[in-house]
Amino acid sequence: MKFSKAGLGFIALGAATLAALSAAGAAQAAGPAAGPAAGPAAGDAGRGKTVYARCVACHDLNTGAVRMGPSLKGIMGRKAGTAANFGYSGAMKAKAVVWGPDTLNAFLTAPMKYVPGTRMGFAGLSNAQERADLIAYLKQAAK
Ligand code: HEC
Repeated sequence: MKFSKAGLGFIALGAATLAALSAAGAAQAAGPAAGPAAGPAAGDAGRGKTVYARCVACHDLNTGAVRMGPSLKGIMGRKAGTAANFGYSGAMKAKAVVWGPDTLNAFLTAPMKYVPGTRMGFAGLSNAQERADLIAYLKQAAK
């Protein structure tokens, strides 16, 4: 039945598209679209842009403007708590780290655990692939 075969193909394509669109969803699409399971493979900046939607209300990327949080302009290689125009918590100012893939990965997993007392009102990203994607995006876009 050529008709139903074509129909199924269409449905499968639709499902794949939907999965891609909702890749930022917390529940992890778990399907083949997620690729080889486990391990935070190399981040995908394109997908990371979607993940960044959860940060954008509080963080500018390029202009240096303060929102609820400090701008992330030049965040890679920047010392924690040092954007001149932002009033940080004492905890963030005291955190002597330089932001890079490893420190960002740790912070974004559980902000309040990595910087106890931080005022960043964000619970964290439990999905390692989403963190890797987001960090790839920040490397590319937060300049
Ligand atoms: C509800 C607002 C809010 C959301 C959502 C949020 N942040 Fe923040 N973020 C803040 C605030 C406020 C601070 C400053 C925290 C402090 O001083 O303790 C901060 C600090 C940071 C810092 C440290 C900056 C520096 O200059 O040292 C990074 C990096 C960061 N956020 C990244 C992110 C990323 C990436 C996301 C999205 C996954 C995110 N934040 C989501 C409000 C937010």
